[in-house]
Amino acid sequence: MNSPSIAPSLLAADFANLQKELELVNRSEADYLHFDVMDGLFVPNISFGFPLLEVARTYCQKPLDVHLMITQPERYLEAFAEGGASVIHVHYEACTHLHRTLTRIRELGCRAGVALNPHTPVSGLEDVLEQIDVVLIMSVNPGFGGQTFIPHTLQKVAKLNQLLTASGSTALIEIDGGVGEQNAQALVKAGADILVAGNSVFRSADPVEAIRQLKASSLPMMA
Ligand code: DX5
Ligand code: ZN
Repeated sequence: MNSPSIAPSLLAADFANLQKELELVNRSEADYLHFDVMDGLFVPNISFGFPLLEVARTYCQKPLDVHLMITQPERYLEAFAEGGASVIHVHYEACTHLHRTLTRIRELGCRAGVALNPHTPVSGLEDVLEQIDVVLIMSVNPGFGGQTFIPHTLQKVAKLNQLLTASGSTALIEIDGGVGEQNAQALVKAGADILVAGNSVFRSADPVEAIRQLKASSLPMMA
């Protein structure tokens, strides 16, 4: 097992100390900063948008992993690419013309991600695999941080892993929602490449150490 990439989710950060939170991400072993955009329509919550993206881009040295939980995300691809996104995830359920949207994300110089809600089967991606760089499997219903991990996700990751291998796809598998030390190792074993972690990082006593531990989750447990 390779060690997973870690993407702390900004949604769980202390917004009164945002610069400090971003600086701790910088000095940690994190590989990305996960940036959750919610529109109050696709999901029953509103988070943040471009002003905060500019802050993240200014103070965070890690690549920005932008998760768009918005309807018709194709309307904002240029703006997020210009805003500094490295990866842009659109939701499968929010895209009428998913192939076109993914193609456009790549044209803009970003990596193309597709997010799947818990009820969306991985088989729906079969005809668009060549356009995908990352599949973001939601392990909670999107909209809020701090929710409980849905156990079925483990089987879904394994199934996606098989699908990708069988089709020769090099797309990465990313997991988002309720991820922490209690399930990280099982997720990596099932095939996860990138772990998003909000509360388990920012609400821990030592976020830098929490990131280090998640990163080490491919290693055998110490007795
Ligand atoms: C949920 C968001 C997640 C969230 C994860 O809709 O997409 O990225 O911030 O937070 P935790 O790790 O606390 O479940
Ligand atoms: Zn997210």
